[in-house]
Amino acid sequence: MEQLEGLNGVYTQDQSILTRNLVPETKVYGEKLVDHQGQEYRVWDPRRSKLAAAILNGLQELKIDSHSKVLYLGASSGTTPSHFSDMVPDGLVYALEFSPRMMRELLRVCEKRKNMVPLLEDATRPRRYLNLMEKVDFIYCDVAQPQQSELFMENMRLFLKPECEGMITIKARSIDVTQKPTKIFREEEKKLKTSGFKILEKIKLEPYEKDHLALVCKIDF
Ligand SMILES: C[S@@+](CC[C@H](N)C(=O)[O-])C[C@H]1O[C@@H](n2cnc3c(N)ncnc32)[C@H](O)[C@@H]1O
Repeated sequence: MEQLEGLNGVYTQDQSILTRNLVPETKVYGEKLVDHQGQEYRVWDPRRSKLAAAILNGLQELKIDSHSKVLYLGASSGTTPSHFSDMVPDGLVYALEFSPRMMRELLRVCEKRKNMVPLLEDATRPRRYLNLMEKVDFIYCDVAQPQQSELFMENMRLFLKPECEGMITIKARSIDVTQKPTKIFREEEKKLKTSGFKILEKIKLEPYEKDHLALVCKIDF
């Protein structure tokens, strides 16, 4: 078992990636559990999590440490948020989701994980949760909807501490099924750059996810 450089809390073994299980003997989505020198790790499935796909496709850095606070937009039932929760055992994950049905499943994960805070909110209306939140060290956005870049940028401006970074996954088909994914990616990147965001890393998610791109960004001006 080896810790991946630049990716605090992410380990590798036998070509899989893993995080150290914050709640031993407990699975979140049926993932495999592995014991190593008295510690339990959860195998991170790149077909269930776009962040795992990005890591396996060469993501260089996630600017978080064990104390970081993370805002997660589009938490769904908690698959990827639970791996963030493993990576920041002394920090917090604000897991935001607007679907009450998904929230019911997410709550089951949050109940067991002391560093996960569920928020039933709409990410397009960040001022509604301004008072429930604090500034965070990292923002992850996976909402798979047409306004994703705009809501990501607004949340970054409102909630990100200075000099910190965020990551957005772009699903081409959620934006326009009639356009070529390369064109959509170019347009989304342009939107971010002309709005004052700098793109630090750009990673395609094939073969795990078709027509998806992950971008690591920071606010440039
Ligand atoms: C692709 S799924 C996220 C999967 C999750 N990130 C994971 O890897 O475990 C997208 C989620 O975003 C949620 N979502 C979409 N638009 C949203 C919005 N405006 N505010 C909050 N959640 C939203 C959807 O309900 C859905 O659960």
